[in-house]
Amino acid sequence: MTAPERYPLTLRINGQQHEMQIEAWVTLLDLLRERLDLTGSKKGCDHGQCGACTVLVDGRRINSCMTLAVMQNGKEVTTIEGLAADGQLHPLQQAFIDNDAFQCGYCTPGQICSAVGLINEGQAKTVADVRELMSGNVCRCGAYPGIRKAVCAVAGIGGGEGEGEGDNKVHAIVPGTVPA
Ligand code: FES
Ligand code: FES
Repeated sequence: MTAPERYPLTLRINGQQHEMQIEAWVTLLDLLRERLDLTGSKKGCDHGQCGACTVLVDGRRINSCMTLAVMQNGKEVTTIEGLAADGQLHPLQQAFIDNDAFQCGYCTPGQICSAVGLINEGQAKTVADVRELMSGNVCRCGAYPGIRKAVCAVAGIGGGEGEGEGDNKVHAIVPGTVPA
């Protein structure tokens, strides 16, 4: 049997240049986890439905299970491992701790990377916006109140509890709002 064809791939990941040869079918998530030992990004569903694999590509959040690594050639990738700087946690990492925003922690790297992307996008103005724009990240532990408070705290959106928004109801999760 002949070896599968490989293609040249250059990525800057968490500030470090990587040059490699990779099979066309390897997803960005599998490249990070299985080839580069960056296991912070999690494989929840592998189908673009849970957001556990969310990373940043050129500052934009993306489900890394839904893109082939070769499609991101030349891009800058940031994973949860790359968010802390100079020995200091990223403000969102600290806010998740301060607001009790996780239980098992499985969804947390994706939640935090997604929140970084949300803040980069600059579209969230209210607590309801945060709910909607984070809805592609599912938390099976149900840590949503803490997650919402943490994201709102860093995004500078008042309250984080939904008071005054007329919007403190339980909302249906709408998977797939994180673009792939
Ligand atoms: Fe990628 Fe679930 S593992 S969206
Ligand atoms: Fe367990 Fe979110 S903290 S899935």
